[in-house]
Amino acid sequence: MTAEILWVTAATTDDLWEGDILDVEVEGEQVLLVHVMDGPVKAYQGMCPHQEVLLGDGSWDVDTNRLLCPGHKWEFDLMTGAGTNPLGCQLFEYPVKVDGDDIVLGIPQDGTRHHNRFETSEGDE
Ligand code: FES
Repeated sequence: MTAEILWVTAATTDDLWEGDILDVEVEGEQVLLVHVMDGPVKAYQGMCPHQEVLLGDGSWDVDTNRLLCPGHKWEFDLMTGAGTNPLGCQLFEYPVKVDGDDIVLGIPQDGTRHHNRFETSEGDE
């Protein structure tokens, strides 16, 4: 069964120009909004899968779409949400759409926390 989706305006296009990332809290969920250069708006879990540092405080290279977490320098491809260093982790991705000037986020109403965690085989470093 597919979870019902609650659609909530999270920001406006004026808040998130191409090449911007933005932390927002929507319905109690920490979310990272990303407007990929020459690409779509994406929305991912806002906290790192490693130790829950805010990904929006990281550094983003708009040319490669790679975001470096400020915690321990894990790296994510913000076009896909996939971890590129280390490999194997994946950010939870929310459905998102742009409706006029509004960036509207879809929050699954499935009663779970939308936050993937990942631990390396070397432990929690
Ligand atoms: S908290 Fe993000 S890499 Fe450790």
